[in-house]
Amino acid sequence: MKSEIEEIKRVFIQDLSVAGSSADINNLRIKYLGKKGLLTLRLKSLSRIPPEERPIFGQLINDCKRFIEDEIEKRESLIRAEERQKRIAREYIDITLPGKYTVPGRLHPINKVMGEIIEIFTGIGFDVEMGPEVELDYYNFEALNIPKDHPARDMQDTFYISDEVLLRTHTSPVQVRVMEKKRPPLKFIAPGKVYRCDADISHTPMFHQVEGLMVDKDIAFSDLKGILEVFIHKLFSPDTPVRFRPSYFPFTEPSAEIDIGCILCSGSGCRVCKGTGWLEVLGAGMVNPRVFEMVGYDTETYTGFAFGMGVERLTMLKYSIEDIRMFFENDIRFLRQF
Ligand code: PHE
Repeated sequence: MKSEIEEIKRVFIQDLSVAGSSADINNLRIKYLGKKGLLTLRLKSLSRIPPEERPIFGQLINDCKRFIEDEIEKRESLIRAEERQKRIAREYIDITLPGKYTVPGRLHPINKVMGEIIEIFTGIGFDVEMGPEVELDYYNFEALNIPKDHPARDMQDTFYISDEVLLRTHTSPVQVRVMEKKRPPLKFIAPGKVYRCDADISHTPMFHQVEGLMVDKDIAFSDLKGILEVFIHKLFSPDTPVRFRPSYFPFTEPSAEIDIGCILCSGSGCRVCKGTGWLEVLGAGMVNPRVFEMVGYDTETYTGFAFGMGVERLTMLKYSIEDIRMFFENDIRFLRQF
């Protein structure tokens, strides 16, 4: 028995010398001190030796057990300390290093100006409506008093998908769609993408418009003037000159085009305003009663005005951008400036 215990101790010392991790320590505990551990079994087998010898061997086994417990504990705290050191080394953060800079994203200039336009109109009580970009000929043309073969169809180079389906060439079809669904009073804008088969320094096949419509009893041309003046003064500056010039759209009567004093030359005449001192920024007019008839509104009771603007054009004027294509080239150096 005595030599057995010496042997256990010897093997333990060997085992201990190669225990290098918490897992090893756990295994040692199980092997020697666990329920079926070497020492535990010895203690249990004490009953099988003569009673007078038990105290001696009991003593021996307990001494050995204490020795093993102590050694395991010592080694364990060493390993713990070591592992902690390693973890600290691994997780070390040098707070004196310069930070990693991430360039913050920003709104595309078109979305930015679109947001400003929406903000101004919702601020004076307009709702926001949406319509489909793939549109029926009916809404894009017919219901806006532009029948087939009407010369006004040539004003807009349409992408046709089939005889009756097209990419909307303006946001005006949203006027009709909303009027079909709702009764006056109406006061909304309709921002969105429109498409025309056209491409040069001031035209892209896709661009953005914001439509506006207000219908109620007693809406007059002076309401249109007032609201568009407020809008332009908010979007540009309060002292921007505004001028209404007679024009023609099949869905408004009378119609007007709205000019602002040239932002670049302040009206003295330059290349951008082609020497006129004025820049066209909006189309507008009083809703043509024929459009009201198409949606079943009583033309004796209701009047209204409509307007439409090109967001790219407004953005180009606001930021003095000369080529519309820059908006769609995704050149970071350009986009970062807004
Ligand atoms: N839809 C016209 C265009 O795209 C603009 C417009 C809208 C004119 C509403 C008058 C009224 O050119």
